[in-house]
Amino acid sequence: MTDQIDMNFLLTSLEDELHSAIETHSENMIGEYYSMMAYHLGWEGEGSGPDARGKRIRPLLVLLSCSAAGGDWQSALPAAASVELVHNFSLIHDDIQDNSPLRRGRETVWKRWGIAQAINAGDAMLTIAHLALLELEKSCTPEQTLQAAHTLQQACLELTKGQHLDLAFEAQEQLSIEAYWLMVGGKTASLIGACTELGAISAGCTDERRTAFREFGFFLGLAFQAQDDILGIWGDAALTGKSSDSDLLAGKKSLPVIFGMHQEGPFNERWSYGSIQPGETEALAKQLQKEGAREYTQEAASQMTAKALSALERARPEGEAAHALAKLADRLLRRDV
Ligand code: IPE
Ligand code: IPE
Ligand code: MG
Ligand code: MG
Repeated sequence: MTDQIDMNFLLTSLEDELHSAIETHSENMIGEYYSMMAYHLGWEGEGSGPDARGKRIRPLLVLLSCSAAGGDWQSALPAAASVELVHNFSLIHDDIQDNSPLRRGRETVWKRWGIAQAINAGDAMLTIAHLALLELEKSCTPEQTLQAAHTLQQACLELTKGQHLDLAFEAQEQLSIEAYWLMVGGKTASLIGACTELGAISAGCTDERRTAFREFGFFLGLAFQAQDDILGIWGDAALTGKSSDSDLLAGKKSLPVIFGMHQEGPFNERWSYGSIQPGETEALAKQLQKEGAREYTQEAASQMTAKALSALERARPEGEAAHALAKLADRLLRRDV
């Protein structure tokens, strides 16, 4: 186990693993099959570069969790690449489902190549993700590899259940806070929980520690989505690279909105009247903040982060990676990107 964690080395090793995962399956490809994936991952096309790649939070969680569970992070690289590919598959499809034209400050894949080809590029990325995970066979036992495959596939299923609820809730007039956490547990936290669990699996630690690592990631994922909901209304589009009025326009039941609905004040009066129009979002966001929705959501994210940190303590993380994980949890809570 390394005592000093060099985050840049982790990230460049991950990028190499991602390249080899995609390129193995795209040799001799005609047309734009490879380019669509390379564009989405921030490697090619207009605006490519580090900012177009996203934060790569999920693979970092895999590698740091492996190290904190007593393993060598390099052995978890196939799992790290695979979760980033699952995440990016989910974004390609999510941008179609949410009708989002912008991702990481660039045109979305469906905007550029059309919905049909974007669905196909997402499908390809999901399949490559599962193939990439099987490379764990080289650094882990067959039993660990099987456990990892099971964990990732279960997370994918939960993710699609969460996405189903997210879309179904758009048309729902009433929604409880409990239903919100169920939806977010599926669409976001299941994959982040799988990340920390995959790190623990790659390290070969006990089932008890493995569960604690998963719970750390799961609660971190809940906090992460609540924070994303804040950015989806009050964020700076120039920083997030996503539009900051699309959640309100789409009628998304994000946590601030559900809180506002329950206040039964001026926000709810306008919200329940009918679809929000583009010219209204700024005033509505202000009203929602005035009614306490931003503060409430921030507090909820803090509480979920506290739960995550208490699970991390139960996981008895080791070495420098233990500090890096706690620091990352704190950084995510304050993020504006
Ligand atoms: C965006 O995830 C989707 C959510 C689950 C909220 P990230 O904020 O991790 O996206 P990138 O990869 O950094 O762009
Ligand atoms: C996040 O979706 C979850 C997945 C993509 C599976 P959102 O729709 O809430 O996230 P953004 O705001 O588009 O990144
Ligand atoms: Mg969505
Ligand atoms: Mg979306």
